[in-house]
Amino acid sequence: MKLDQFPRYPLTFGPSPLQHLKRLTQHLGGAQVWAKREDVSSGLAYGGNKMRKLEYIVPDVLASGADTLVSIGGYQSNHTRQVAAVAAHLGLKARLVQEKWVPWDNPVNDKVGNILLSRMMGADSRLDDAGFDIGIRDSWKNALAEVEASGGTPYPIPAGASEHPLGGLGFANWAFEVAEQEKQLGVFFDTIVVCTVTGSTHAGMIAGFAALEDLTGVKRRVIGIDASATLEKTRDQVARIARNTAELIELGRDLRDEEIHVLEGWAGDLYGIPVQSTMDAIALGAQLEAMITDPVYEGKSLAGLIDLVKSGDIAKESTVLYAHLGGQPAINAYHSLWS
Ligand SMILES: Cc1ncc(COP(=O)(O)O)c(C=O)c1O
Repeated sequence: MKLDQFPRYPLTFGPSPLQHLKRLTQHLGGAQVWAKREDVSSGLAYGGNKMRKLEYIVPDVLASGADTLVSIGGYQSNHTRQVAAVAAHLGLKARLVQEKWVPWDNPVNDKVGNILLSRMMGADSRLDDAGFDIGIRDSWKNALAEVEASGGTPYPIPAGASEHPLGGLGFANWAFEVAEQEKQLGVFFDTIVVCTVTGSTHAGMIAGFAALEDLTGVKRRVIGIDASATLEKTRDQVARIARNTAELIELGRDLRDEEIHVLEGWAGDLYGIPVQSTMDAIALGAQLEAMITDPVYEGKSLAGLIDLVKSGDIAKESTVLYAHLGGQPAINAYHSLWS
């Protein structure tokens, strides 16, 4: 297994903290629920899951001699905010394409939260009317061409850093970090629950836990919760990136189909629009644990976890790990849900 041979540029404080959610566990009356907190593991503009992906991409950025990171996301993209943060941290420029991925017409949607932070960090953030798509977009290719035309050297980072060839490595390594923390704490997480949209967080975990299973013989379930209501597209993207990452780390076997496990049922009809189960999950996390989740991603995956524990699909004897991937800045654009 080759994961250790990839250079990693530190953007986090170290291993992200694990937290036993005791009041949520008691309330649900089933499996023991823990969280691994990617939302509090970096000092760069509130961090989040992209920091781990970017830790493996930054060495390539530096080797390329680029002076501008070019990326894409929605108006309230956590990813582009983290790209802006990394650019500021490295002394590079950031050119961000912010598309109208969510039909959320709150007048502050393109002004507060993530986009505000990106602007504050000096990113050149420009709005585009295009709707949601996790694929490669012309607007992003045009931004790359514009940077070049103006004499800059762009470095392309696709949506969520997922289509980047190294995009899955950060969360492949996460699996080994979990195993190390389990040893220290004397716990074992038989089930992992993670939100999935552009795919490389879940995909990286699948590859990493597969490698760990091959080393230890111990199986676990890594459940991705679809948060964009585009299940087939998401599942295909997760499978493809998981297989690429497995090859990159020299897993030495093909991933089995049952290792790629994306569940639907908590996304509602549209990416970025919460439904009742999202709001209920956000309220439970906040009121029982002061753990803040957002209406776009983490509220939906938390809703999935809650239902799977309540229904016994995740058994009472289980210990489940909720990957908290960040995303809180976006709540500012959703203030009307609580006013
Ligand atoms: C807070 C948060 N949770 C979950 C995700 C989903 O991660 P991925 O795009 O790697 O599937 C993202 C990014 O898209 C995110 O910003």
